[in-house]
Amino acid sequence: MTSAPPPAIDFLTRPGQPLRGSLRVPGDKSISHRALMLGAIAEGDTHISGFLAGEDTHSTLGALAQMGVHVDRPEATELTVKGAGLYGLRAPAVPLYLGNSGTSARLFAGLLSGQRFDSELIGDESLSRRPMRRLVDPLTRMGATLSCTPSGMLPIRIRGGARLRGMEHELPVASAQLKSALLLAGLYAEGTTCVREPALTRDHTERMLDYFGCPVSFRDGLICVSPQPLFGRSVQVPGDISSAAFCMVAASIVPGSDLVLEEVGVNPTRSAVIDILRSMGADIEVRGKPLHAVEPVADIRVRHHPLRGIAIPENLVSIAIDEFPILMIAAAFADGVTRVSGAAELRVKESDRIAAMADGLQAIGIRSEPSADGITVYGGVSPGGVVNSHGDHRIAMSFAVAGLAAAGPVKATDCLNVDTSFPGFPAALRSVGGEIEVHAEGRDG
Ligand code: S3P
Repeated sequence: MTSAPPPAIDFLTRPGQPLRGSLRVPGDKSISHRALMLGAIAEGDTHISGFLAGEDTHSTLGALAQMGVHVDRPEATELTVKGAGLYGLRAPAVPLYLGNSGTSARLFAGLLSGQRFDSELIGDESLSRRPMRRLVDPLTRMGATLSCTPSGMLPIRIRGGARLRGMEHELPVASAQLKSALLLAGLYAEGTTCVREPALTRDHTERMLDYFGCPVSFRDGLICVSPQPLFGRSVQVPGDISSAAFCMVAASIVPGSDLVLEEVGVNPTRSAVIDILRSMGADIEVRGKPLHAVEPVADIRVRHHPLRGIAIPENLVSIAIDEFPILMIAAAFADGVTRVSGAAELRVKESDRIAAMADGLQAIGIRSEPSADGITVYGGVSPGGVVNSHGDHRIAMSFAVAGLAAAGPVKATDCLNVDTSFPGFPAALRSVGGEIEVHAEGRDG
């Protein structure tokens, strides 16, 4: 049976009114994935509120269902995972299809390396082009039996029943997905598993393991776990700062804007985008709120303020990695030149984000010079234009924001994947005054 191809979706945004009011962005994608996975292998129930009901987290949910995990879901963003325990997952009958979701693929590779059954991980075209060797090699050194293609991509095939050994890993790249995969494999290994990262990355896995009763220790730059049973907990997922970043930049560059983003996660390993925007001159106020379980949360108020170009410090790259597309839009509307370097990982995201942004900036009349590991953006005036978002959610939303501040409309094509991380993005933007049209199969929406 062949299914119809999904409809093409384009966004058209126009310069117009200031963005005003308050907005709650959907739940954090990284935390939602982790709450599902840890909940599935914990003892007892895990109640999740503020869950991201997006395509990527549905990929994780679907894979867990294939492995026999029961989930009650009274509402799209509220669910209870019935924990199966560390060894309670069941062999999936089919390959696990993970769509566009790198986090699902990488974290499952670690988690499933320790199971007694065989499994296979597959994904969409974009995920099937992303690097997996970085994961397969260290897991193999731990004793796992798994393979990717000769070019280092999906499918990953995992043979169950391997005996994993804890060991020390020096990560070749700063990647929270890789770090998390190895820590999850460590729950099934004999002895202690430690990772050393070349630069700081998001620490949601460490925080959540600890919260679920599996202590994570930190010594001499090593992050270590030993096998421990996990216990189901309540997880209130904060708003995703990576989604909020689109609104922060929109409010900064659209004159007259004054926007409050409510209950956003401001974990210091995620919030560098605020520091970067502030160094560019943005007017951002962060009002701390009570923690959501183990994650810091705040309301973020952003008022329009002219931006200036800067050299983005390389030590902030790994803790703002998903925000670079929208930071390049901030740079496009800033006065002067913005330089990004040390960011080669951007080339292996859902699209090659350096190439996609350079092409898109050119299409809206902004000069940029891409390099192997970054880009230089020359701030200017954009007349608008038509941009291919390459099916990458963050490229699509970035250029939608550009259209709110350009001199003319911006059309971003191939925007369907926005639902992977920010379902309801057009409605959210409209609710605070943004002029956005959604064109699906030639019809306005
Ligand atoms: C994520 C880590 C990042 C990020 C991705 C989500 C995570 O990837 O780009 O969107 O949830 O761990 P890397 O760790 O590969 O840089």
